[in-house]
Amino acid sequence: MAENNQNAVAGSAPAKQNPVVTKGGVYKPPVERADANPYKDSRISSVGAWLQERFSVVIPVIDYLKKKEVPKHRLSFWYYFGGLGLFFFMVQIITGLLLMQYYKPTTAEAFTSFVFIQKEVSFGWLVRQIHAWSANLMVLMVFVHMFSSFFMKSYRKPRELMWLTGSVLFVLTLGFGFTGYLLPWNEIAFFATQVGTEVPKVAPGGAFIVNILRGGEEVTGETLTRMFSVHVVLLPGLLLLLLSAHLLLVQILGTSAPIGYKETGRIKGYEKFFPTFLAKDAIGWLIGFALILYLSVFFPGPIGNEANPLAPAPMGIKPEWYFWAQFLMLKDFTFPNGELMAIFIITLGAAFWFFIPFLDHRASREEKSPIFTIIGLLYLAGLVINTYRVFIEYGW
Ligand code: HEM
Repeated sequence: MAENNQNAVAGSAPAKQNPVVTKGGVYKPPVERADANPYKDSRISSVGAWLQERFSVVIPVIDYLKKKEVPKHRLSFWYYFGGLGLFFFMVQIITGLLLMQYYKPTTAEAFTSFVFIQKEVSFGWLVRQIHAWSANLMVLMVFVHMFSSFFMKSYRKPRELMWLTGSVLFVLTLGFGFTGYLLPWNEIAFFATQVGTEVPKVAPGGAFIVNILRGGEEVTGETLTRMFSVHVVLLPGLLLLLLSAHLLLVQILGTSAPIGYKETGRIKGYEKFFPTFLAKDAIGWLIGFALILYLSVFFPGPIGNEANPLAPAPMGIKPEWYFWAQFLMLKDFTFPNGELMAIFIITLGAAFWFFIPFLDHRASREEKSPIFTIIGLLYLAGLVINTYRVFIEYGW
């Protein structure tokens, strides 16, 4: 059996020969075999050839990557932000795994283990600071990537699925920030999570959602267990799945150029994705890593005091900066049912954003769509202005 299988070499068809049956009716494989490694003379490495023989994808993938080209024009700079988001995500996975070796997700031990990592574990402080700073940078890069894809109308036909998978990735990225915030179990984390998980309460059926988020009516050890498991299992799993689809689509459909650039000769040429663009990506990643190290060493985040659920909430509790715009809107709407109205507007705005590829018909016909550019600018201005207002009122 094993001998027969040798004929079925991945990536190459077995030579056509009549099967040999001996007198006793016992099957014998043909003497002449198909070439076991049709790529042995090609320039791929011996490891590549070994894999190709068994998995038959190495050469097609390398050929494909070599064929992919990225257009060069005055806005090409913005193509690097998706890759930077990817880089910071990889940093999160590595540092997150290291932190998990010492972190204990119970109310009794969470804060102590967090302090232990900061003060006792060799380079624990650095790993924790890198994890915190890289999280912020990942969110920032994904924001920039989303808005630059929006303004270049990269969502237009046939890239609708890139936009949809990207939008879910955006929500998952924010989910990481939200669930990770509680884990140190310090005062700020505790009260900010209390405020954050209370938001759905005013909506119909909201009490049920609050219960799901908290694992009960209050923020307790149950909430910590939930946040931890979602942070380290559910979100990474979902993100990896969606990311694979997103990146596969990028490879299949290629990188888009802004509307009208080809027709008006504004494309200065094309560069190979592999290795040229990827090498430039890598330079961006090195700069990104240097930035995280700089921020971690010179601007370390505080440890704070252990959470005390019985203590009154300190003044000026606010969420992470990427939720400030929504947070302010909830606070601004002080009229009756204001919070419900704010939730409604935020949800409607998010749904509209999600379905943009199906609403902007002009872009899909390769025509300019200034109304959607204006809508994007309004979204961006709303976010930036509200975020800035929280900064002025509460500080960093
Ligand atoms: C974890 C988050 C994300 C990662 C790691 C990621 C990664 C990438 C990468 C590496 C590319 C190819 C290079 C580039 O154009 O930048 C890309 C392309 C793209 N992404 Fe994302 N992305 C993420 C989230 C998003 C979000 C939130 C959106 C929008 C809602 C989005 C929409 C797109 C689109 C439309 C393209 C195609 C660009 C083109 O063809 O010109 N992505 N993404």
